[in-house]
Amino acid sequence: MKNEYMKATALAPSNIAFIKYWGKKNEDLRLPVNGSISMNLSNLLTTTTVEFDPDYKKDDVIFINDDLDHSVGEKRIITHLDRIRSRAQIKVKAKVVSKNNFPSGTGLSSSASGFAALTLAASRAAGLHLFEKELTILARLGSGSACRSIPDGFTEWLSGNSSETSYAISIYPPDYWDIVDIVAIVSDDKKEVSSTEGQKLADSSAFASLRFSKINNKIKFLKQYLRVKNFTKFGELVEAEALEMHAIMMTSIPSLLYIMPESLKIMHLVKKWRTEGYEVYFTLNTGQDIHLICQEKNRGKIYQLLSEISEVKQIIVNKPSKGARLLNEHLF
Ligand code: PMV
Repeated sequence: MKNEYMKATALAPSNIAFIKYWGKKNEDLRLPVNGSISMNLSNLLTTTTVEFDPDYKKDDVIFINDDLDHSVGEKRIITHLDRIRSRAQIKVKAKVVSKNNFPSGTGLSSSASGFAALTLAASRAAGLHLFEKELTILARLGSGSACRSIPDGFTEWLSGNSSETSYAISIYPPDYWDIVDIVAIVSDDKKEVSSTEGQKLADSSAFASLRFSKINNKIKFLKQYLRVKNFTKFGELVEAEALEMHAIMMTSIPSLLYIMPESLKIMHLVKKWRTEGYEVYFTLNTGQDIHLICQEKNRGKIYQLLSEISEVKQIIVNKPSKGARLLNEHLF
């Protein structure tokens, strides 16, 4: 006899980190060297349905709209299902169907939204009712940045020194500040080195220890600028932080070059637009697609400027968003 609770669907946003996570102090537990701060994104979304069913002979993972190589591989998903099964003390196999409304593997953090949605859907389908903190810990074990996609709005991942103390919290709700993240998609090309693999090289950069020695101070300043809503100071710090993370990537051994010519062109233009009076800052993760952060009042102008660039294939406008949530409608 099948139980209704064995099927659940969750929707989760991707997030953009203002203070980045790049480097782990414990590989297996995905404990980051430093804490990080991000904002959930209203228009970069993963929807995932999980069903545990005694009739299934093996785990089956299907990605809709994404037949290409994706950063969230099947093996990693099954390992995550195993974590949840062991927690729920069940052995039943599952069917997982997942869809993104944006391209994966191009720097838009599909593993964050993917593992946040999978964690919520699978734990509920397995009959678990976990508190938010526990969900963030579980999501972190799937993909570090996924823990920040569970709570609402602006979130902080506390680095911690054990699995129980490394979790994410909401520091401000989505409507706290009307800033906008405008994503420019410049190519469908998948990154050659995944974040998981790339992160293992962080310590090989000669600048890593310098970065880590100053990062807590940076977190303090970013939180202060958020608290007083000083957009200029906030934007300058966010942009400098993205460049610093890429400096670590570029100077690791072997080096990692995620910034592509199209991204670089936009980075230069952002600096030019600022001199023309349009306040906007860039940030980017592992991949060529780039995020532009501005205030709501400048959203229309930045959108127009971006749409005039021939390399820009698609523009996605994001507001601060709620975190992962359950849906009543299933994908199958
Ligand atoms: O969670 P992962 O393994 O996909 O790593 C995310 C790394 C960055 O996106 C580059 C930084 C961040 O904090 O999101």
